[in-house]
Amino acid sequence: MTPILSLENIAKSFPGVKALDNVHFDMQAGEVHALLGENGAGKSTLIKIISGVHKPDSGMMKIDGQPVSFNNPREAQAKGIATIYQELSLYPELSVAENIFMGHAPKRSFGPIRTIDWRTIYSRAEEILASLNIFDMDVRRKVGTLNVGNRQRVEIAKALSINARVLIMDEPTAALTESDVEKLFEIVRLLKARGVGIVYISHRLQEVFELADRATILRDGQYVETRAVSETNEDQLISLMVGRSIDNLFPKLPGERGKPVLEVRNLVRPPQTRDVTFTIHAGEIVGIAGLVGSGRSELAQVIFGMLPAQSGEIWLDGERVTISNPSQAVKLGIAYVPEDRGTQGLIKQMNIRENASMAILRQLSNSSFIRFGEEKSLARRAIEQLSIRAYSPEQIVNKLSGGNQQKVVISKWLACKPKLLIMDEPTRGIDVGAKSEIHRLMSELAVKQGMAILMISSELPEVLGMSDRVLVMREGQLVAEFSRSEATQEKVATAMMRVQAS
Ligand SMILES: Nc1ncnc2c1ncn2[C@@H]1O[C@H](COP(=O)(O)OP(=O)(O)OP(=O)(O)O)[C@@H](O)[C@H]1O
Ligand SMILES: [Mg+2]
Repeated sequence: MTPILSLENIAKSFPGVKALDNVHFDMQAGEVHALLGENGAGKSTLIKIISGVHKPDSGMMKIDGQPVSFNNPREAQAKGIATIYQELSLYPELSVAENIFMGHAPKRSFGPIRTIDWRTIYSRAEEILASLNIFDMDVRRKVGTLNVGNRQRVEIAKALSINARVLIMDEPTAALTESDVEKLFEIVRLLKARGVGIVYISHRLQEVFELADRATILRDGQYVETRAVSETNEDQLISLMVGRSIDNLFPKLPGERGKPVLEVRNLVRPPQTRDVTFTIHAGEIVGIAGLVGSGRSELAQVIFGMLPAQSGEIWLDGERVTISNPSQAVKLGIAYVPEDRGTQGLIKQMNIRENASMAILRQLSNSSFIRFGEEKSLARRAIEQLSIRAYSPEQIVNKLSGGNQQKVVISKWLACKPKLLIMDEPTRGIDVGAKSEIHRLMSELAVKQGMAILMISSELPEVLGMSDRVLVMREGQLVAEFSRSEATQEKVATAMMRVQAS
């Protein structure tokens, strides 16, 4: 069968980097085709070529066997190619229906006057949502008031409003809750059954096995291989991506528990933090599990001074402290790697060196001069340690791939050698090789340097694999605690979800 979409010998360079070289990709109608590779391998670049954002330097792209060349995303859309990017691109101030029909709203004529046909827009939007089995969304509601899962459904509906034949999804589940992931999968299966071809990018291999028919692997911008998912396994895919096998994703070392570093007593900040008490010791990794919305990130932000507490006590190294803003927290030796690293963690117009040293400028500066050499070697070390794919420490962060940007944030906070390191979803969006590297670093920091690490994660295997102790948060409170040996997937999940008896 002629593929609906095919790319042959695609090459694309950016200043200083060959992002793609000699890459092939093809897609049949009704196929879910996963695109896999490490951070910076070229996945997003390839889909930006398919969707008309970038023009390839060379190579051939065909739709239904006919050569095509797109000058902009609109031309790609006209050929039925729709894309949902790593960062969603909706207008928060506009309604669901307006977003779906942005740029191609049905119009009606009154004599010479053409106006937007609102009635048709609303009813068409409802039809499209219904065709995705979405019946509970008010099409007049502002997109800014929707949660991430619903916003993504609007993006998908928007894609379908142009009669997409190829739907591209770049890490669609990275920011979703588990129930939203399930709903997304249902929609993907529905579209597949209708003959839509789906390009699916994810760092979660489990999803690839659940959804995809074939997988194409890229490494360092080079085409590696295309395989039927039914004929391969996780280890094979990992070694194709990374070029070696990864024997241990959770290299947790056994450690000694030292003195208490952080003691939190009856911490309250309504509505999300409701009376939280716990202690974390030097050398200890404490994982906090919980559903999205259970208050885990807010708790971290209260400790770090981003959301000042209403009542309760925070003790650090045996002394009571008041933390009313992040710079006080940093001075006291607390570091925080936020969940949303795009908006909270980086200044995207600055380069890697500047971002990586931002948290320790005080230590690096000599009176008012920043010691450039040290700053540079710090950035070099970060690039090497976390295998950040960049051509130099001077590269602007904006031009890094999504996962590599995240690594810069992590390195920034590791550099200031805190007593207490709080990490919110430390490996979200990070490829499997770097993930095991980050885990190894965490373990070393705890065991060899006695750092106390508080880790929030929605990936239960990560929580179980890395924590000395697991705390479970639900509705703003800690509801269960398990030691490393007690904690199992089942026990933790049950504690996360138990419905309060009323
Ligand atoms: N606009 C740009 N200008 C310069 N370099 C770029 C640009 N976009 C991407 N690159 C570089 O191209 C390479 C491939 O990046 P790409 O975003 O395609 O990776 P990716 O496979 O999507 O990674 P991730 O899993 O981290 O999202 C990287 O080295 C990146 O820094
Ligand atoms: Mg990407």
